[in-house]
Amino acid sequence: MSDSPIFPPEPRTDINNLPRSMKGVVGRSAKLIETFRIIDRVAKTDCTVLITGESGTGKELVARAVHEHSNRSSGPLVTVNCGAIPEALLESELFGHARGAFTGAAGARIGRIQAAEGGTLFLDEVGELPLSLQVKLLRVLQYKEYSPVGDGRVLTANIRVVAATNVDLEAAVREGTFREDLFYRLNVIHVRTPALKERDGDVRLLLDHFFDLARQRLGREDLTGFSLEAKAALEAYEWPGNVRELENTLERAILLSAGPLIDLSDLPERVLGRSGIARTVQTSLPEVGIDLRRAVESFENQLIQQALERTGWNKKQAASLLGINRTTLVEMLKRKRLERAA
Ligand SMILES: Nc1ncnc2c1ncn2[C@@H]1O[C@H](COP(=O)(O)OP(=O)(O)OP(=O)(O)O)[C@@H](O)[C@H]1O
Ligand SMILES: [Mg+2]
Repeated sequence: MSDSPIFPPEPRTDINNLPRSMKGVVGRSAKLIETFRIIDRVAKTDCTVLITGESGTGKELVARAVHEHSNRSSGPLVTVNCGAIPEALLESELFGHARGAFTGAAGARIGRIQAAEGGTLFLDEVGELPLSLQVKLLRVLQYKEYSPVGDGRVLTANIRVVAATNVDLEAAVREGTFREDLFYRLNVIHVRTPALKERDGDVRLLLDHFFDLARQRLGREDLTGFSLEAKAALEAYEWPGNVRELENTLERAILLSAGPLIDLSDLPERVLGRSGIARTVQTSLPEVGIDLRRAVESFENQLIQQALERTGWNKKQAASLLGINRTTLVEMLKRKRLERAA
């Protein structure tokens, strides 16, 4: 693994000269650079790191960066999602178990702590860890000791612990659902992943990054970029679901787009609604004048036709592209006697 720092640690780095992407982490906003600097400073120590941030801000990515830039990078990175494993199984998942320790435990099994030996244990959603296991984790952090379920032996753990959460652990401590002593043990170094709306300029870089990735993955080489209006709407949106929402939105747009540009009509309602950009089409009045009612009717029919063709006559998706309800679209089709060509 490379020894190079994630980021040059000098206090006055010229932001414009920084690489655009570092180990898959895209962005060069001041907020993100601050996060990189902290990772860079702590990665080489064996300190426990607590990563907090809204959902979709890249906590897992940061955990991986900490591991990859640590002295343990040639060892394993083992992830345990504390919220996804039922409480009854989590203890043996973490600590392992002896043969016959419980019904169904036919053979002995090593836990994830042992699997992470010499490397990093990433405890995702650590706020979900039940109180009974919090005590046992504390013992690992304090004394490096643990015992598998149904096994009297005391094992020594050689691991570095990185934990992440999107719940407010200090509030959980006040409410009594999270042990205060464990909180302080985990929170030795705190890395906060900033929300996307705090990262000036990063949306633009992330749009290009995910556009390239998704275009390739979905085989849409015919797409060349974004229309100006679509780019403006995407940049104006606040991204409450952060990078994950941006990634999913682009993937959907690339699937829907008729090409060659991603346009406003390829973007979901929530992006358009909050960006304040109306989806309008410019048109001009011919010199000789126009029959307004017929022109509007024809214009409406053409757009409906296009929406239906683009979605393979999926009325729900077509209605969504047109910003109307499915039932409204069905009524319009009936009234206009528009049918799918045989
Ligand atoms: N700066 C970034 N550059 C590139 N991709 C990113 C960046 N941040 C996040 N991602 C991508 O966005 C998605 C969400 O990131 P991740 O899973 O790390 O978020 P999270 O904070 O762990 O979210 P949650 O709290 O919901 O688990 C992933 O696909 C990740 O690869
Ligand atoms: Mg996560």
